[in-house]
Amino acid sequence: MEGRIRVTALVGSYRKGGVIDRAVDEILSAAEEAGAETTRIYLRDRHIEFCRNCRTCTQEEGARRGACPVGDDMTAILDRIERSHAVVLASPVNFGTVTAVMKRFIERLVCFVYWPWGTKIPKVRTRTLNRRAVLVVSSAAPAVLVRLRTGITGLLKEAAAILGARTVGTLYMGMIAGGPEQGISGRIARKARCLGKRLASPKGR
Ligand SMILES: Cc1cc2nc3c(=O)[nH]c(=O)nc-3n(C[C@H](O)[C@H](O)[C@H](O)COP(=O)(O)O)c2cc1C
Repeated sequence: MEGRIRVTALVGSYRKGGVIDRAVDEILSAAEEAGAETTRIYLRDRHIEFCRNCRTCTQEEGARRGACPVGDDMTAILDRIERSHAVVLASPVNFGTVTAVMKRFIERLVCFVYWPWGTKIPKVRTRTLNRRAVLVVSSAAPAVLVRLRTGITGLLKEAAAILGARTVGTLYMGMIAGGPEQGISGRIARKARCLGKRLASPKGR
């Protein structure tokens, strides 16, 4: 992967201009200022089918992701991620976990495991973590409760790892549902910008 650092953000919020989107704005603009090329993908706007559990993509052994027979936008999204040095996985907490669009995306990552029929446990094709990830989570509940009482961090970290990314930072935004147009605080914006710079850093390329 030569050239500029490429950062790809996957937005699992249903709202453009919402809290998640604003935090991603800060992360990506700081990354761009630090020289990175950035792409934001709104999962809601993409054609992403549910995994059909045909397991076609899991049958062939090898480090490369298995080919999925579903003809939707996942191939282009995953190609883009595989060309990236860093990813942002961003989702509100809905009913104690990531949003349905983020979960639908994560379930499609089964193509990164080798899991032939008859074997009980899937094996991640490669555990090489040569990308970096930042996780962004927003909730009506206080952030500390989300960290302690939901499995959202573990789920997003595992998704990042399957995408070949080591999580290098997290941004939790709690108590954000004070009104329909709530923004992000200066403190959160500063933290988001630090994370964006970290993702754009050539260290660990
Ligand atoms: C259907 C639904 C379920 C929600 N469930 C939770 C929840 O379980 N815990 C929580 O703290 N907030 C919950 N919320 C609040 C959202 O997390 C909050 O509105 C969201 O983080 C805002 O992000 P956005 O501005 O990007 O839309 C829920 C909101 C909706 C619409």
